[in-house]
Parts: sequence; structure tokens; C-alpha cells
Amino acid sequence: MAVSAADIRKIRESLPMIREQIAPASSSFYDNLFAIAPELRQLFRGDLDDQGMRFMSTLATIADLLDDPEALGPELEGLARAHAGIGVRAAHFAPMGSALMVTLGEALGPAFTPDLQGAWRAAYDNFAAEMIARGGLT
Ligand code: HEM
Repeated sequence: MAVSAADIRKIRESLPMIREQIAPASSSFYDNLFAIAPELRQLFRGDLDDQGMRFMSTLATIADLLDDPEALGPELEGLARAHAGIGVRAAHFAPMGSALMVTLGEALGPAFTPDLQGAWRAAYDNFAAEMIARGGLT
């Protein structure tokens, strides 16, 4: 399932507002993730003080690589292998996607329209499916 050019555009347009609304050190994404799936907490090392940046880099990774298959391939390969190595399972991607939607909804408020949510959902699902396949995640 490819992500449409229109969805990619909407996602990129939303990034500045997301960066504005979610402070770099914010742990809101992880708070939401562990509220949905507390069992995932043990996968993350140490305290979460600098994890806010990882959330932002995850969003930027998704947005940057969506329409660049040549760069996306190796990047996904590496990310998928890294995730397999730290015990991430295929079943973990659903709660991660839910936490992403909740966090974006909190950050953007009414600007997180059903249309924009659909774009993010398509991008996340696409990326998750690729990571699960390439990392051989079970
Ligand atoms: C499309 C989905 C995902 C993307 C794009 C993604 C992306 C990333 C990125 C960019 C990093 C940072 C790597 C680094 O610091 O070098 C990371 C780290 C990590 N991710 Fe993911 N990830 C995804 C899904 C998941 C899922 C489903 C889990 C399961 C809970 C997960 C758990 C982790 C963990 C535990 C780390 C390492 C954090 C630490 O340093 O303790 N990720 N991910």
C-alpha cells in the first residue's frame, strides 16, 4: 500500500505545527504509549528524559523518506534490524500507531482533521508494514 503524494504533502505541511506544539523534551508520546501498552515500558532504556527527541526524529524519518524509495530501503533495513535486536515484536506496532494518533490529536487539536489523521495513519501503517517485513519481526 503506497502513501499518496497528497498524503505526503499533508504530513509535511503538518510538521512545523507539530514541532511547535510538542517540546523537544516532551514525553507526551511515551506517556500515551505506556498508558495504552504498559508492557512496552521495559523495552526502553533508562529514564525517558531524552526520548522526546526520538519521537520527533521518528516523525521526521517517516516524513522525509516516504517518497524516496532509494533512501528509504537502506534506512528501513537498518531501523528494522535495530528494532528486531531490542526485542520489538510485530504486535507492538499497533499500540505505537495508536499512541502516535493520540499524541498528534493532543498537539494539533482541531487542526488534526480526519483528513490529516488519515494521511498520518496511511504513512505509519505503510512504514510499520515495511519494518515488520524487512526486520523479519514476528
Ligand atoms: C514505524 C514505526 C517506527 C519507527 C519509524 C521507529 C523509529 C525509531 C527511531 C528513529 C529510533 C531511534 C533510533 C536511534 O536512536 O538510533 C527508534 C528507537 C527505538 N524504538 Fe522505534 N520506531 C518504530 C516503531 C517502534 C515500535 C513498534 C517499538 C516497540 C515498542 C519501538 C521501540 C523502540 C525502542 C525501544 C527504541 C530504542 C529506544 C532507546 O534508546 O531506549 N519502535 N525507533
